[in-house]
Amino acid sequence: MQAGTVVTTPYQDQKPGTSGLRKRVPIFQQTHYLENFVQSIFDTIAVPPNSTLVLGGDGRYYNREAIQVILKMAAANGFWRVMVGRGGILSTPAASCLIRKYRTCGGIILSASHNPGGPEGDFGIKYNTANGGPAPEKITEAIFAACKQIAQYRIADMPDVELDRLGDYEIGDMTVTVIDPVEAYAELMESLFDFASIRSLLVSGFRIKFDAMHAVTGPYAREILVNRLGAPADSVINAVPLPDFGGGHPDPNLTYAHDLVEILYGENAPDFGAASDGDGDRNMILGKHFFVTPSDSLAILAANAYLVPGYQQGLAGIARSMPTSAAADRVAKALGIPCFETPTGWKFFGNLMDAGKVTLCGEESFGTGSDHIREKDGLWAVLFWLNMLAARKQSLETIVREHWARFGRNVYSRHDYEGIPAEAANSVMKLLHGSFESLKGVQFGDLQVKLCDDFSYTDPVDGSVSTGQGVRILFTDGSRIVFRLSGTGTEGATLRIYLESFEPDVGKHHLDAQESLSTLISIASQISELHKRTGRIQPTVIT
Ligand code: G1P
Ligand code: ZN
Repeated sequence: MQAGTVVTTPYQDQKPGTSGLRKRVPIFQQTHYLENFVQSIFDTIAVPPNSTLVLGGDGRYYNREAIQVILKMAAANGFWRVMVGRGGILSTPAASCLIRKYRTCGGIILSASHNPGGPEGDFGIKYNTANGGPAPEKITEAIFAACKQIAQYRIADMPDVELDRLGDYEIGDMTVTVIDPVEAYAELMESLFDFASIRSLLVSGFRIKFDAMHAVTGPYAREILVNRLGAPADSVINAVPLPDFGGGHPDPNLTYAHDLVEILYGENAPDFGAASDGDGDRNMILGKHFFVTPSDSLAILAANAYLVPGYQQGLAGIARSMPTSAAADRVAKALGIPCFETPTGWKFFGNLMDAGKVTLCGEESFGTGSDHIREKDGLWAVLFWLNMLAARKQSLETIVREHWARFGRNVYSRHDYEGIPAEAANSVMKLLHGSFESLKGVQFGDLQVKLCDDFSYTDPVDGSVSTGQGVRILFTDGSRIVFRLSGTGTEGATLRIYLESFEPDVGKHHLDAQESLSTLISIASQISELHKRTGRIQPTVIT
């Protein structure tokens, strides 16, 4: 094997966003584009001797090609071993699990998560550190700085590696180990949850449907839910990962997971439904004709963690991203444990988990997880719910309603305005930034503005400060509106408006969230001059 150096010129647009570098496939296919980014990762981490790298992706278009390039670059950059999932497949949680299990120096995950795939779709790449979690901002900024200056990269001249057969392949001084993508992850799940009681539930007539959305979780769900837990084979739908996700948008929410929603809201609906996203880290949880908001899900998991073997020793704390509802805060208070409020993005949870400050984490964007790995974890959330349902022997809806009756309901919704021209979105944010002082104290009907700010966060572990994390309009009664621009989109800008109010009255818990939040919704569009500045009246997606 010969390792050579290739002269290259930098691209200026390789700034990692909320979760790695995401661009459309044709951008990634530009000459040296992928190579520049990968070399910048390797230069930034200064590959230690005898290092192992975990490598895999969600199977989307360009996954296999990118894996071959990265293997050749890893060999030329002095890696000792690369562990790659068979077929180039690894879900994001499984990659995190492997990095931790084999104590590797980190991993590269190829995914654009919930964004559509295919030749004209999105591709993405991110580096996870040795703790199994997404690289913190300090590292992603260093990678970006390296990308802007890169002059050459190293790559080995070698044939492609056979990705579809398990085993070790020697390439020069490096070994490529093709591993089963599911096994270690499935074992970890078995160590956390009461598989025996979930199995009894599933064979006793309790019906479930899991929608893998033609993305990476298909093989994981089949192995765990069907092979190990005994659910009927047709419990997992859209189970074969496809490079274009079957033309769908692999985002588990009420809009994009329509196959599943129709089943769960249809006649003779199953008792439980769930879906996961492109790379398997998100989850949506449904009951019969019933939707659980991700914010409520986090709170309910926390309140019921004592029923789950892996969490019976108690929770150290809970963390949620700022836009996520405060439902989990109420549970933390009742449990006498701390609750942390972090900026959006899983990377902010890593330090808290490494320091033993939190056990459960969650985001309103269908992300839930725990310190078993350092990523959010879709199937983990599904198993947690199934464990809870098996232990409580109540319907999902009853569990949620009892939770609201005990803690009150944080009524919640997020409105996304996708594909807005960047200038229009920026002008909305600028207007809001300029209104902090003038909005303070203003009365809108029964609601009075208490405070407006741009959220910033000081990491309690390393003291690092992240600013500009979303505009918050807080009202005196505890309601709030948050405005944020997405950091994961690739087309124009996506404006997210998060709405929350608190309803202690059980008599009003049955009301539809959009109805209960209607006043906040109209205040949000009024103060942001949304229609005037963006031409939009209705959100693209409501969750
Ligand atoms: C979105 C979600 C965020 C999540 C991220 C990665 O980021 O809002 O909570 O961590 O995807 O899955 P955004 O597009 O809002 O920057
Ligand atoms: Zn994802």
